Amino acid sequence: MVISKGRYLLLFLCVQLVVMALLYREGYRKRVAYFFGIFYKGGSASMGLINPHNLSQAGDVYANLSLISKPSLREEELPYCPETSPFLGGPIRVKLPENLLLEEVERKNPYVTKGGRYKPPDCESTHKTAVIIPHRNREQHLKYLLYYLHPFLQRQQLNYGIYIIHQAGNFTFNRAKLLNVGFKEAMKDEDWDCLFFHDVDLIPEDDRNIYICDRFPKHASIAMDKFGYKLPYKSYFGGVSALSPEQYMKMNGFPNNYWGWGGEDDDIGIRVALSGMLISRPSVQYGRYKMIKHGHDKGNEQNPKRFNMLTKTRRTWKQDGMNALQYILISKELQPLYTNITVDIGTDKGLRPHT
Ligand SMILES: *[C@@H]1O[C@H](CO)[C@@H](O)[C@H](O)[C@H]1NC(C)=O
Ligand SMILES: *[C@@H]1O[C@H](CO)[C@@H](O)[C@H](O)[C@H]1NC(C)=O
Ligand SMILES: *[C@@H]1O[C@H](CO)[C@@H](O)[C@H](O)[C@H]1NC(C)=O
Ligand SMILES: *[C@@H]1O[C@H](CO)[C@@H](O)[C@H](O)[C@H]1NC(C)=O
Repeated sequence: MVISKGRYLLLFLCVQLVVMALLYREGYRKRVAYFFGIFYKGGSASMGLINPHNLSQAGDVYANLSLISKPSLREEELPYCPETSPFLGGPIRVKLPENLLLEEVERKNPYVTKGGRYKPPDCESTHKTAVIIPHRNREQHLKYLLYYLHPFLQRQQLNYGIYIIHQAGNFTFNRAKLLNVGFKEAMKDEDWDCLFFHDVDLIPEDDRNIYICDRFPKHASIAMDKFGYKLPYKSYFGGVSALSPEQYMKMNGFPNNYWGWGGEDDDIGIRVALSGMLISRPSVQYGRYKMIKHGHDKGNEQNPKRFNMLTKTRRTWKQDGMNALQYILISKELQPLYTNITVDIGTDKGLRPHT
């Protein structure tokens, strides 16, 4: 009996050691991938050998929105939308329009209502998806994302809403905590059955990448141009991911204590596993994204503690997450193309009294 207990302990320690070793390796690979990204800026052309994408087939994201029209039925008489939307066009040509104005995006999306909400006018959608975008000082990127995301989601016949979670003040950016806030605030509005957590600088390039949830937490941005249209490393969970409310709560949401760039996405990936779930992914042909180029943001410096923190996730995930989330809601504005939720999420020292 005593011997077998000792054996279990040994086994346990070994497993722990292996996990730690793996985490360090992932961190290392991430850095490698990052450099990869630098060398292959605009990687789509140079890395064409991996998963070739036939650009001549890529279409205008607004191509068949004009086919959507409102029938003369009352809302409760509408049939359910078909399983596969007839408006899908597959690959999308992403070319950032010059001098784009938000008014132009509004004009091109006449069925979008206040707060960035939409329901198909011609059928009842069976999916309700909230898109949560953490944000600060990226108005230009936001404009481009809205230009592509609205028609993209309408082609998929989703009932959706777009939320911007704006971090007030100048303290270091905290992506994961903003996502927790987004989850909580969006769920107050509506019984969403899926939440897409979306970086502001990633534009989807194929509308068959459907913005609905899977049986397991989904990592959607698996093929970014920056990484040569493939996963930078196996457990990567950054960029765009999707969870149902049940999945989100099962893993206690996301961590609140990653201030600055990096680490939080790996922590989230680890939480998925620790809470007994797997990662689901779309096909590599569909999960394609173009990253809008930008310099490193001020106020979002690399988080030097991230490697150290990642080794502790196993011990911290149950204490730090949705159950420990604290913030002060400053404003909630319903803009024509999005809901702007502005929050004070405090600093690494906690919430200060608001002045
Ligand atoms: C790309 O698609 C076009 C039109 O469908 C086709 O004519 C062409 O052969 C394709 N090119 C490649 C490299 O597959
Ligand atoms: C929508 O546009 C794509 C091309 O981008 C086309 O293949 C598809 O058939 C169109 N759908 C309808 C209903 O016209
Ligand atoms: C943030 O920084 C800017 C300029 O660096 C300054 O004008 C502004 O007052 C600061 N805001 C807060 C809330 O500290
Ligand atoms: C969101 O609201 C805050 C507070 O009114 C404002 O400072 C910020 O510019 C808004 N952001 C966007 C993208 O509308």
